[in-house]
Amino acid sequence: MHMRDWEELEKACRSCSRCELCKTRKNVVFGSGDRHAKLMFVGEGPGETEDETGLPFVGRAGKLLDAMLASVGLERSRVYIANIVKCRPPQNRDPLPEEREMCFPWLDNQIRLISPAIIVCLGRIAAMRFIKPDFKITQEHGLWFEYFGIKTMAIYHPAALLRD
Ligand code: URA
Repeated sequence: MHMRDWEELEKACRSCSRCELCKTRKNVVFGSGDRHAKLMFVGEGPGETEDETGLPFVGRAGKLLDAMLASVGLERSRVYIANIVKCRPPQNRDPLPEEREMCFPWLDNQIRLISPAIIVCLGRIAAMRFIKPDFKITQEHGLWFEYFGIKTMAIYHPAALLRD
């Protein structure tokens, strides 16, 4: 799949039924921000507030992400923010490997259109996809890797920082 038109891509994505998560979602959380951003953030999956609003990182973890961005002089409107899966997993469980696989073509298409210089993985689930399946967040957070020519690193997920 490679759609060249954002509107077409978003429309198709919003009616996706490739995995079971479509049955329990309220909204597809497509992603948001600058479609020409050099910096892209990828989280795990929508939580309750994201499912309600259709926007990524708008709950408590999102507020922390905003503060983290502000601390380096960035606003979310200047980066692009998306998730490994676009629909909320029930009870906020980790998205299953098959859900991540089924969803990935949407994110992949977004990455091709944005062509960011840097992808920051928020947490282990995204790092497993962009860096390596056995990524160890405690040992390897903050280290640089490469994903098809795009510099990438993982940092702790803001929700994990709030929890621990
Ligand atoms: N956690 C995530 O991984 N993504 C969101 O969009 C919100 C919380």
